[in-house]
Amino acid sequence: MEYTIKTIGIFTSGGDAPGMNAAIRSVTRAAIFNGIKVKAIYRGYKGLIDNEIVDFRTQDVSNIVQQGGTILKSARCKEFMTKEGRQKAYESMKDHNIDALVAIGGDGTFTGARIFAQEFNIPIIGIPGTIDNDLYGTDYTLGYDTALNTIMDAVDKIRDTASSHERLFFIEVMGRDAGFLALNSAIASGAEAAIVPERETQVDQLAELIQNGFRKTKNSSIVIVAESEITGGAAGLAERMRIEYPNYDVRVTILGHIQRGGSPTAQDRILASRMGVAAVDALLDEQRSIMIGVVNNKIVHVPFTKAIKDDKPINEGLLGVLQMLSI
Ligand code: F6P
Repeated sequence: MEYTIKTIGIFTSGGDAPGMNAAIRSVTRAAIFNGIKVKAIYRGYKGLIDNEIVDFRTQDVSNIVQQGGTILKSARCKEFMTKEGRQKAYESMKDHNIDALVAIGGDGTFTGARIFAQEFNIPIIGIPGTIDNDLYGTDYTLGYDTALNTIMDAVDKIRDTASSHERLFFIEVMGRDAGFLALNSAIASGAEAAIVPERETQVDQLAELIQNGFRKTKNSSIVIVAESEITGGAAGLAERMRIEYPNYDVRVTILGHIQRGGSPTAQDRILASRMGVAAVDALLDEQRSIMIGVVNNKIVHVPFTKAIKDDKPINEGLLGVLQMLSI
């Protein structure tokens, strides 16, 4: 059987992340460069089911490399989890003569892609786009670096008021069930500690660390807390601290969705551009059901099954760096 891809569909799905637009631009232009037509699918799997599909030309992706969010919009789609929903999506694909897909998103996106690819024998390539950086097989995901910088800027500002009032701040950051944003933003912003789901929290040890700091030289303390049921979040931890150590003047800040927005950093734009080209190359090379990753600054192919299922470990050494530097 002849294997030719004449038209690809591209979409973004799940939580948006800075750098998704740069990836849309890159996939579109790399495909057109190689003589492949591009169809833009709006609102992820929902748009595929509802037939929200339009032709994309090179000029449709002009002036977006620097924009946060996703011009293709994003959605989480329950219907795609059903066989009937996926059948409808497949029919839309056929109506538009789409031979292959490039999906930009996180683990939910790739879980759907893996099933869809298998059921209907469709070549699908994934590009990791999530601020959480929680996909196995890639050192970085799109949006992570930008979110890290956003958190760092916010913590720098909170530090000003924390030291003026000699307060202890618990700052909650996103990450779903992963501590990458919390740990690395804590190092980058000179926080006293990071509370991550990958490591059990000892409140008495944390209190001792903070107390020591105040006793010696510090006039404020910042603890970055990863959102998660395991950590209890910033509010939960602050409450425990207030009860057990009432002498602290404690405040809580939840950074929330500010972490998902903003113009992507140079690193995210470059990564998105490289991954977009690599996704088209992979399709031309007859690859399917893989996520594009980057390991030691080299592009790699990671099977969807591994990217989704395997746990990406946190760098334990970085916990040591943070601890050493927070004395
Ligand atoms: O996966 C990205 C993420 O921002 C997580 O860090 C967070 O837990 C979640 O999405 C929030 O999702 P929503 O925007 O649906 O509230």
